[in-house]
Amino acid sequence: MSLELQKDNATVTIGDKTFTTDVLVGTENEMALDLQALRKNTGVIGLDPGFGNTGSCKSAITFLDGEKGLIRHRGYELQELADNCNFLEVAYLLVLGELPTPHQYRQFMEKVKENNFLGPSLQELLNHYPSNSHPMAVLASVVLSLTGFYADLGKEKFYELDMDVVRLLVKTPLIAAHNYRRKRGMKYIIPDNSLGYAENFLYCMFGRSLDPQRRKIMADAMEKLLIIHADHEQNCSTSTVRMISSSNANVYAAIGGGIGALWGPLHGGANEAVINMLEYINMTGGNIDAVIKRAKDKDDEFRLMGFGHRVYKTYDPRAHIAKAVVDDLLEKLGVEEPLVDIAMKLEQVAIHDDYFVSRNLYPNVDFYTGTAYKAMGIPKEMFTVLFAMGRMAGWLAHLIEFRNDEDRRISRPRQVYTGAPHRSFVPMDQRD
Ligand code: CMC
Repeated sequence: MSLELQKDNATVTIGDKTFTTDVLVGTENEMALDLQALRKNTGVIGLDPGFGNTGSCKSAITFLDGEKGLIRHRGYELQELADNCNFLEVAYLLVLGELPTPHQYRQFMEKVKENNFLGPSLQELLNHYPSNSHPMAVLASVVLSLTGFYADLGKEKFYELDMDVVRLLVKTPLIAAHNYRRKRGMKYIIPDNSLGYAENFLYCMFGRSLDPQRRKIMADAMEKLLIIHADHEQNCSTSTVRMISSSNANVYAAIGGGIGALWGPLHGGANEAVINMLEYINMTGGNIDAVIKRAKDKDDEFRLMGFGHRVYKTYDPRAHIAKAVVDDLLEKLGVEEPLVDIAMKLEQVAIHDDYFVSRNLYPNVDFYTGTAYKAMGIPKEMFTVLFAMGRMAGWLAHLIEFRNDEDRRISRPRQVYTGAPHRSFVPMDQRD
């Protein structure tokens, strides 16, 4: 087998079969081979568990440079968006491709306000979940059940700012907040249309028990955290949303599946796992070296949570923003959070340790976000729900891009079969 790479095309030769394909070049000069006809021409498939070398689509939403630690949405630096926008502006940008003009923003906010409620049947549905259900399980299944309330029946095309988009953006925090309350025997709070996205969520969760001045400080921090979570191109949950959608399943089925994928501790669930790890270190007398030793031990499944990333081979730019948000929040709230000190010490040990340096393992977005949520008094089982609230914008943007993509096909990977070769059936009474 040989591969010859030219400027515009590549030729793969396998035995007596030759396949020539185009080299595709993206906006930022990233290159890809179009392998769609590889099997047809050579009988051979690519094998790439974990898809580390596989591009599943062309996308115009987010650009990452993992070597340089860059992230841009629709061309804008994430840091600039986090410094200057609120979350809904960024959601608008991701979904529609441009930042809203004042008129467009007003129109968008009208739709947001119209949807800013949780109807009695949805409240009732939430009341029936066992009180010990994990909030991510509740969120995933309630979002899926929205199909029964609002029928998007897998329509072929999915248009910009469709009602489903606004509905999912607005109702997700309301579902999360009411679930928090009803588990504690507290009543539903009617959302307040005069409040911003994050502040409305905090109000619906904590009601008047949270001082409005503190709520505003928390909401400002939360808007930034939602922005840094908003999109991250073809990550596990976004790819799941695209994959489910590829069967023409409806929007709620696709997003519900995405929430399930996000929940895993190697993905969004890492923010909860980071706090569990930091609490463990705190409880056991601050022994960081023991945790580092475990993370390096190949016979131990334990990993340093909040460290490492498939794409970033340097510090995750989102972790820088999250750390600054935590520092600012703690100062403004006037609270001390011992877990932040532990996290910083842990980071210092890890980034100077040859095991982590040689594998390019640096703090990722989840390393500091949990400490911010903890300082806000949000229970840790809800941390990944906050990730989902932010990522909802990205999932919806990708879903729309995918549904409107002329090249889309059902996602159906192949495999290399390694099981038993053909054998004859043996009736049960003749089996040993
Ligand atoms: N602690 C210890 N070792 C690690 C870690 C870690 N957190 N992450 C990777 N490694 C090692 C791994 O054992 C392997 O070592 P070796 O080459 O000796 O076998 C090497 O680094 C490469 O790891 P990998 O598993 O091939 O990397 P991946 O790209 O498949 O996995 C990851 C990426 C994020 C799943 C992984 O780094 C990890 O499990 N991190 C901890 C969980 C975490 O923080 N997840 C949040 C990711 S950011 C939020 C999001 O977008 O999802």
